[in-house]
Amino acid sequence: MREIMVVPSLLSADFGNLGADIKAAEECGMSALHCDIMDGHFVPNITFGPMIVRAVRSLTGLMLRVHLMIERPERFIDDFVDAGADEITVHAETCPHLHRTIQHIHERGIRAGVALNPSTPLCAIENVINDIDLLLVMTVNPGFGGQTFIEAMVPKVSRARAMADDAGVDLDIAVDGGIDTDTVGRIVRAGANVIMAGSSTFGERPRVTWACQALTAAARAAGEAR
Ligand code: DX5
Ligand code: ZN
Repeated sequence: MREIMVVPSLLSADFGNLGADIKAAEECGMSALHCDIMDGHFVPNITFGPMIVRAVRSLTGLMLRVHLMIERPERFIDDFVDAGADEITVHAETCPHLHRTIQHIHERGIRAGVALNPSTPLCAIENVINDIDLLLVMTVNPGFGGQTFIEAMVPKVSRARAMADDAGVDLDIAVDGGIDTDTVGRIVRAGANVIMAGSSTFGERPRVTWACQALTAAARAAGEAR
């Protein structure tokens, strides 16, 4: 059984005081941070690029899980690896040559993930399931923090876990969007083990430590019950 972990998303952090938020995440035992990269094209919002990832890298030794919500992500893989990413997740919808992009990420020596929008069927990753380290099932439409969890993604996660089991791969199945102490139980019982969360972690400032611990406890309790 894969470890169940909460990964706080910097999207909800205080960018005027990133160091303090990152320290809070470290102090309460988080092992990774989620970095949301948006380009204003693939998604209707713009966030930050490799320069900020590099700055985050200089502040922490935590694993940096980079989520690219950008068109033609293959152009920027090297930049994010050089900036310090430990894992890069690309959207299947943005990659006509998904297999090649996964290879590119692996050639740079880091973990490769593929994300699927809520409307994208699981068959989009059927032919690369043996080549990826993580499948990210979006539980909101990507672009913004604080959106409502899409319940129809619960059976999608169950099917994703069954697909991974059938293929004999010990895949990390991640979820991202609208995850809090209410929704996390259902999605973990369905088979998710990596929980990306912004509003319910850094968004709970100044109680970041408390929020990360509460979400982790809820996620792990659901994991034990499944
Ligand atoms: C949304 C981003 C998420 C975002 C989630 O497009 O990919 O990582 O930070 O935020 P919450 O947890 O607030 O839904
Ligand atoms: Zn994300």
